[in-house]
Amino acid sequence: MRVDGVLRVPGDKSISHRALMLGALGAGVSRVRGVLQSLDVHSTAGVLRALGVAVPALGDDIVIEGVGLRGLRGPGVDLDCGNSGTTTRLMAGIVAGSPLAGRFIGDASLSRRPMGRVARPLAQMGARFDFDARGDGLPMTVHGGALRGLTWHMETASAQVKSAILLAGLVADVPVEVVEQERTRDHTERMFAGRGVDLRVEENVVTLVPTARLDASDQLVPADPSSAAFFAALAAIADHGSIALDDVCVNPTRAGAFGVLRRMGAKIAFENVRAEGGEDVARVVVTPGALRGVVIDGGEVPSLVDELPVLACVAACADGETRVTGASELRVKESDRIAAIVNNLRAVGADAEELPDGFVVRGTGRRPFAGRVATHADHRIAMAFGVLGAIPGSAITVDDPDCAAVSFPTFWEELSRVVV
Ligand code: S3P
Repeated sequence: MRVDGVLRVPGDKSISHRALMLGALGAGVSRVRGVLQSLDVHSTAGVLRALGVAVPALGDDIVIEGVGLRGLRGPGVDLDCGNSGTTTRLMAGIVAGSPLAGRFIGDASLSRRPMGRVARPLAQMGARFDFDARGDGLPMTVHGGALRGLTWHMETASAQVKSAILLAGLVADVPVEVVEQERTRDHTERMFAGRGVDLRVEENVVTLVPTARLDASDQLVPADPSSAAFFAALAAIADHGSIALDDVCVNPTRAGAFGVLRRMGAKIAFENVRAEGGEDVARVVVTPGALRGVVIDGGEVPSLVDELPVLACVAACADGETRVTGASELRVKESDRIAAIVNNLRAVGADAEELPDGFVVRGTGRRPFAGRVATHADHRIAMAFGVLGAIPGSAITVDDPDCAAVSFPTFWEELSRVVV
């Protein structure tokens, strides 16, 4: 396979959610450029509108008039989060800190995902959570109001939970301290600091000092490294050519997949590295190389958690075994990604095995794959196997290619453009 092209993948999903939320809560007008226009981000925009914020239709250059930290109003409708865990968990923190109640709903996949992880710390701060059904899935009603401060030791590595606690503390104007075992993506911390919030980060401890203040601020959204990773993977498994990915967020808490691809043998260069919009940004240029299996353990997982499906597909094209452990979080993503990765790799003719907290792939070198992929409506499973299916001679059918629109609506067009 030969690849060739320069791509600017769409805006970062994590930063896009946060840019809308912080724009909504800011004191004044915030401009957001390059926001991701995908289903998940539309869900966040919709929830904010239901809470009384005039979020405009999403576009490349939008302006949000913030209502301030006390300006949200009780919704007259359910807060529909669609497929988006980030919308649900971060907005649960915002509602918990506000004197109002909101009932969160979502699609079948989201409704199965655990919300106890945000409910436990936020309830300890004084919010009340009611779950419609048994268990801790949606629908869930959050009754917010006056909260007390919290020191929270994270139960799992989750930027969503960390962010929910920080947002609740910010909105309710109480001190919070979050202690992480593994550092997770730090976009919320960076964006708070850029908006006048007194936030301190020392090693694995994030402390919010109440200041009752969130300045409006413009946000430039870099390209999403999780979307870029599909094309980095494609270039890694190619035989010839290269792919350049522009404006990619290479924040170290997000860039783990590029390091793994390099360890596997692909050539990866970060060019024009710069600070932009409070993030580390670079052009990432990927060229194929001889690929070998690697070991990925829990310490590395948070920096590449969303990229494990596509890394597993690259592993199938490498020589030797790739072993991933410490990744049990994959079981509670948009699908059980450990099962989805392994079952689909086997379905297309690769050798893979589940572990309780990860998986093993025994790679057999570059070759075509064939079979039917069950995405379970999981965007990253669809795109990961789309990459494998691009190998000439492959015959992979993805049962629901359209679910890519959750994070990367133009994925299939871009894919066909760079395989030459
Ligand atoms: C995200 C955090 C991660 C990630 C998700 C986005 C965020 O989830 O998988 O796609 O924007 O904070 P967890 O917090 O569950 O690890």
